[in-house]
Amino acid sequence: MLKNSLVYLILFNLIQFWSVEIDCFQPSQRYLHTATFIDNKLYILGGRDKLDTSIETIGKDFFYRDFSTSSVNFNSQELSWLDLSNVNIVPPHKAAAAVKGGVNNDILFLYGGNSTDNDMALVYTFDTKSNSWSIPNITNMSGEEEFSRKAFLTGIIDNGSMYLWGGVEEISKYSVNDMLILDTINLSWRKGSLVNTPSPRRNYGATLLPNHQIIYMGGSNYTNITLNEVYLYDTINDSWDTKTTSGIIPSSREGFSVNLGLDGQRVIIFGGIGVNSTDALYVLNLSDFKWYIPKVSGTIPESRNNHKANVIGNYLVITFGQSTKTIESDVLFLDISNNDEYIWTENLSGSPSKSKVICVIIGSTIGGVLLIIGMFLLYKWNKNRRLRRNAVHPPDVEQEIKHKI
Ligand SMILES: *[C@@H]1O[C@H](CO)[C@@H](O)[C@H](O)[C@H]1NC(C)=O
Ligand SMILES: *[C@@H]1O[C@H](CO)[C@@H](O)[C@H](O)[C@H]1NC(C)=O
Ligand SMILES: *[C@@H]1O[C@H](CO)[C@@H](O)[C@H](O)[C@H]1NC(C)=O
Ligand SMILES: *[C@@H]1O[C@H](CO)[C@@H](O)[C@H](O)[C@H]1NC(C)=O
Ligand SMILES: *[C@@H]1O[C@H](CO)[C@@H](O)[C@H](O)[C@H]1NC(C)=O
Ligand SMILES: *[C@@H]1O[C@H](CO)[C@@H](O)[C@H](O)[C@H]1NC(C)=O
Ligand SMILES: *[C@@H]1O[C@H](CO)[C@@H](O)[C@H](O)[C@H]1NC(C)=O
Ligand SMILES: *[C@@H]1O[C@H](CO)[C@@H](O)[C@H](O)[C@H]1NC(C)=O
Ligand SMILES: *[C@@H]1O[C@H](CO)[C@@H](O)[C@H](O)[C@H]1NC(C)=O
Ligand SMILES: *[C@@H]1O[C@H](CO)[C@@H](O)[C@H](O)[C@H]1NC(C)=O
Ligand SMILES: *[C@@H]1O[C@H](CO)[C@@H](O)[C@H](O)[C@H]1NC(C)=O
Repeated sequence: MLKNSLVYLILFNLIQFWSVEIDCFQPSQRYLHTATFIDNKLYILGGRDKLDTSIETIGKDFFYRDFSTSSVNFNSQELSWLDLSNVNIVPPHKAAAAVKGGVNNDILFLYGGNSTDNDMALVYTFDTKSNSWSIPNITNMSGEEEFSRKAFLTGIIDNGSMYLWGGVEEISKYSVNDMLILDTINLSWRKGSLVNTPSPRRNYGATLLPNHQIIYMGGSNYTNITLNEVYLYDTINDSWDTKTTSGIIPSSREGFSVNLGLDGQRVIIFGGIGVNSTDALYVLNLSDFKWYIPKVSGTIPESRNNHKANVIGNYLVITFGQSTKTIESDVLFLDISNNDEYIWTENLSGSPSKSKVICVIIGSTIGGVLLIIGMFLLYKWNKNRRLRRNAVHPPDVEQEIKHKI
């Protein structure tokens, strides 16, 4: 008895230490998440995996990685993430839009998305200073009909306003082409021009250009949308323009990433549904709207879709996504500092980050706990072995779930 109590005491203390200290974890495979870079931290929220039924677990995940130690030296497979799921109030969801906004540019704004929870609010905010979520009260335009929920869209922030064009309207399930604008400073809604908008579509690519224009391209509305046209929305005068592209035009795609190059003169696209590794990476020259395939070195990764890509330092940081691999939980780094040759790289220069060290300590603690639990169970099992009856277990039933978005 005394021996048992002692074991329990040790276990209790270790588990308590473990639950307090465990603040980094290995996130599972996911796609259709959001990735928002605020104050050197990359926040990952929501998403789904191949089995959409597990959206309840994947979709409520909220975690980040701190890139502030410019001295990051980590292998992309061993990125250490810090878990914030315990403060998360956002219901499990996928295909939402997120940006960095607010008065001090330190608030994560989450809009829309598809959830199994019909009570999911239209907008959530996460204050990165206090690590707390809230549901903001947003002033509706007077006389405006209800703002409907959209999913499978990209949010772009410019001068405090979050631009939410197109996507799928959750009520009708149709792709739309309206421009919804959320003022993240005044917390009010407005609508953008419908004149000369691109055709309705979802899962397109978009990024902000230095001249306050947002470039939109690709996507799907159940027909192929080619990349021989791109669209420019001017946030200053609320007007649309269409540009015809030339050069090596990438194959049609949806669920890809679009990012501005470091010099602001080109746009880099990566991945997409049905895209293979030789067809994954293209660059659009913004001076003449000509597409070209950039020269790359390093180990060319398999393409992926419905990932997210953020420009962090000299790198395009590609998080998660879906590929032919069953597990694609890792992060890719493309060094885009030299326009003559981009480099796929696994290691960033510098010394090990602090959080990784924490992970190692916790990892060994968990190992210790598991070892003790294991020894304890073995002890109990030995003791009770002769008393055990043969139990008949039903076979595991694995339901084949059709893979769709
Ligand atoms: C998400 O999509 C599912 C399937 O289309 C739909 O039943 C559900 O209502 C959507 N969720 C919301 C919050 O609109
Ligand atoms: C929104 O308004 C309601 C009622 O006026 C109030 O109770 C709530 O605290 C407000 N929420 C925020 C985030 O200000
Ligand atoms: C704005 O409209 C939405 C419905 O679209 C409603 O849920 C919300 O309460 C309204 N907000 C205010 C502040 O009236
Ligand atoms: C940014 O917003 C402020 C406040 O509305 C406005 O005065 C300013 O002209 C805007 N700047 C640009 C570049 O749109
Ligand atoms: C914010 O609201 C104030 C007062 O209602 C208004 O004067 C200002 O123009 C608004 N700013 C923007 C960017 O909408
Ligand atoms: C899809 O886009 C094409 C043009 O790109 C348009 O003609 C068609 O109406 C769109 N279909 C739907 C369902 O929106
Ligand atoms: C879309 O494009 C793919 C290849 O680019 C082709 O296999 C497919 O048939 C096209 N679908 C439609 C509806 O045009
Ligand atoms: C809006 O501004 C852009 C860039 O300055 C310009 O090319 C375009 O003609 C303007 N559109 C309107 C409708 O004023
Ligand atoms: C990759 O995709 C491109 C465009 O669809 C196609 O031309 C090429 O044959 C594909 N390559 C491989 C290895 O499948
Ligand atoms: C982009 O286009 C401009 C104008 O045609 C040209 O001068 C420049 O060399 C092009 N850049 C690349 C990388 O092709
Ligand atoms: C990354 O770093 C590890 C350890 O420093 C090294 O073994 C590995 O070869 C490096 N990988 C690349 C692609 O440079």
